[in-house]
Amino acid sequence: MAILVTGAAGFIGGNFVLDWLAHHDELVISLDKLTYAGNLENLASVTANPRHIFVHSDIANSVVISELLAKHQVRAVLNFAAETHVDRSITGPDEFIQTNIVGTFKLLETVRTYWSNLDEAAKNEFRFLHVSTDEVYGSLSKNDPAFSETNRYEPNSPYSASKAASDHLVRAYHHTYGLPVLTTNCSNNYGPYHFPEKLIPLCILNALNGKNLPIYGDGQQIRDWLYVTDHCSAIRRVLARGTLGETYNVGGWNEKANLDVVNTLCTILDELQPRADGQSYSTQITFVKDRAGHDRRYAIDATKLERELGWKPAETFETGIRKTVQWYLANQQWVSNVTSGAYRDWVNQQYQA
Ligand code: NAD
Ligand code: TYD
Repeated sequence: MAILVTGAAGFIGGNFVLDWLAHHDELVISLDKLTYAGNLENLASVTANPRHIFVHSDIANSVVISELLAKHQVRAVLNFAAETHVDRSITGPDEFIQTNIVGTFKLLETVRTYWSNLDEAAKNEFRFLHVSTDEVYGSLSKNDPAFSETNRYEPNSPYSASKAASDHLVRAYHHTYGLPVLTTNCSNNYGPYHFPEKLIPLCILNALNGKNLPIYGDGQQIRDWLYVTDHCSAIRRVLARGTLGETYNVGGWNEKANLDVVNTLCTILDELQPRADGQSYSTQITFVKDRAGHDRRYAIDATKLERELGWKPAETFETGIRKTVQWYLANQQWVSNVTSGAYRDWVNQQYQA
């Protein structure tokens, strides 16, 4: 028996594999296309682990995946693989359509074929867990209630639209074919191994390198932040106890405006690694042109997950953000390896540096 984790060399998939191996004895097959966002160094601590295998493949490759499923008698597939950066989806949506929609479709087809041929007991035990985002629900106004699972889908970016489409396909495979699926819709994650194109790691690294901390628009957009290992524990819980065909919102009850997040990072950095000139890193904050179609506010109502499955996050924003800054300070080699080549090209293009 084994589980197959797609997108396993990315930020959340990688954290999930490390977290899973710390909690279970089962074989884990990590599969990843290794796009610019995939980094095998995220899995370096488990490469010698006999309970872990890495396979370089696209989720759309049904030949590779059907062989893996059969050979290892896979009992669960967890789909983290995706194109994930909203800004990249604005400058080039094509890959988002290919991976998030077509790729998820191909993966569902491959999994459906495998699952249909299992014996009754294995069929009943099997799970397909799809990892999705709160961004499918669109944008909230200041006083709107947080997103619940019954909110309608109103995606606003090519990224969120492609994730919404994938969620619908997953739902349809349950409804039409009976595939045993579960979907999680999580708020913004942060923590170790976060690729530094996203707000939190970008600002930590820019601060330390004496660069501007770019705040889009007025910086008052709100995101609901969850420490990545709390997302991992929620996924483990949903996989073990979730009701088939259901969706579960995952969030940390940590709504923060972007400017407040960046100011918090600066305060922690001022304490842990003060600037040589004695000034605060917050002097590097710079307001830049807003993102096109920028969603104003996301907020997750995670009461269903708590009420039905007993899940709660372990970290507060204050504990999680401090751990995150400490991790980046302690892992300079990882940072310098990911911030080469293609990463520099993106930063130059996006911020016209
Ligand atoms: P990421 O960009 O760090 O990692 C994505 C991984 O998927 C990379 O390793 C990449 O190489 C791989 N990949 C891309 N296309 C692939 C393909 N066609 N076949 C196989 N692998 C492929 O993303 P992340 O932040 O780790 O997000 C993981 C999942 O969680 C995504 O589905 C995302 O939508 C979802 N999610 C992310 C957040 C967040 O805040 N980061 C929040 C909620 C949900
Ligand atoms: P991001 O980390 O890209 O996540 P998402 O767009 O999926 O929420 O961005 C988080 C917030 O930070 C979002 O409101 C956009 C904003 N942001 C900036 O202000 N400056 C930046 O350089 C980046 C990358 C994001």
